[in-house]
Amino acid sequence: MKKIFDDIYVGSNIISKLNDYTRDFDKILIFSNETIADLYFEKFKSALNEKDKIFYFAIKDGEEYKNIESILPVYDFMLENNFSRKSLIISLGGGVICDMGGYISATYMRGIEFIQVPTSLLAQVDASVGGKVAVNHPKCKNMIGSFKNPYRVIIDVEFLKTLPKREFKSGMGELLKHSFLTKDKSYLEYIENNVEKIKNLDNEVLENIVEQSIRIKKHYVDIDPLEKGERAFLNLGHTYAHALESFFDYKAFTHGEAVAKGVIFDLELSLLRGKIDTKYLEKAKNIFKLFNIDTDLIYLSSDKFIPLMRKDKKNSFNKIITILIDEKGNLSKTEVQEDEIIRIIDKYKNDFLRASIDIGTNSCRLLIAEVQKDNEIINFKKEIYKDLEIVKLGEDVN
Ligand SMILES: NC(=O)c1ccc[n+]([C@@H]2O[C@H](COP(=O)([O-])OP(=O)(O)OC[C@H]3O[C@@H](n4cnc5c(N)ncnc54)[C@H](O)[C@@H]3O)[C@@H](O)[C@H]2O)c1
Repeated sequence: MKKIFDDIYVGSNIISKLNDYTRDFDKILIFSNETIADLYFEKFKSALNEKDKIFYFAIKDGEEYKNIESILPVYDFMLENNFSRKSLIISLGGGVICDMGGYISATYMRGIEFIQVPTSLLAQVDASVGGKVAVNHPKCKNMIGSFKNPYRVIIDVEFLKTLPKREFKSGMGELLKHSFLTKDKSYLEYIENNVEKIKNLDNEVLENIVEQSIRIKKHYVDIDPLEKGERAFLNLGHTYAHALESFFDYKAFTHGEAVAKGVIFDLELSLLRGKIDTKYLEKAKNIFKLFNIDTDLIYLSSDKFIPLMRKDKKNSFNKIITILIDEKGNLSKTEVQEDEIIRIIDKYKNDFLRASIDIGTNSCRLLIAEVQKDNEIINFKKEIYKDLEIVKLGEDVN
């Protein structure tokens, strides 16, 4: 195990490290979701010592439960069990649980301590570090929240062994984004030299890339904790990504998949403004390809997509703000114009989306796929979203 900052530890099989902290608090809540609870609550119960003061609470799994309604029963549970200002919350889960656990700790009795134990790669390299905690509002993601730093972050890469492959890829999307935020080339070189080991979940290599990725994120967090300036660079790719996720109601792309496309959007803008050349852009696409992350932008109608880009939290005065990069790796915040967005998205015009709805007597199927138009022939490229609803004969299909 390695202490990479005063409050952040990275290692393999290190959950017993939590015993160093439990004695400082009167009650401890392990807050998680049902998926992680099934996988890890028993392990925690045997690894943690002061069993009588440790409580467990799991909510349903999914971004759709990241809201105030899911948190109210947690407050009830804590009050019923006499949690005090000297109590602790341990968030055990991916980014959703880390953000929610942090939000509960920021608000219960006006604030108690919390420890992040991130279990997804995305949460290990991003969501658990930096003190942004939040829940979603029906109209906008992460709209209700606060800045509150965790008491400790305990990152155990062994959790990644049970993480679904697609979620691992999602985390790689954010992790690779960090490689564009440092001028130190050794980070990317190390990743390029260890692609197979990363894919095979080699603990030592995972510990190294998680550590380096956090160091990059921490650099921006430390110089600008409340995101008044440079911290916004961490949002490289996010203006496009948030709009894409929201266009599909968070169902078609994982966050990391959307961010990878978003990074390419920002690089396309950098290319358009003459800050980088096509070689730089192609190299960037190839970095994501190493991990089979698709970076092609999605051709969507701009009258629907641009208003979604306008909703990003970085924006103000109705401007759309995104991040530019130059060949030397210098970053800057910029206002992107509508005609630039249209020119970039139009480049991907032959790659677009098709939706097909099939309504049968007792079932309704929806398929959204990425297709490619080649000489008037439309080829299937990639499935984006598939849903099947079985209804009883005679019932309305909604
Ligand atoms: N606070 C921040 O700075 C910050 C930064 C980035 C993202 N986020 C937030 O993080 C969330 C996305 O995080 P995420 O991608 O981790 O999603 P998530 O928390 O929904 O986790 C993805 C899926 O993986 C499962 N999972 C997690 N760890 C597992 C494990 N070890 N084994 C098996 N299954 C596991 C989860 O149960 C879930 O089904 C978003 O809500 C986003 O807003 C916050």
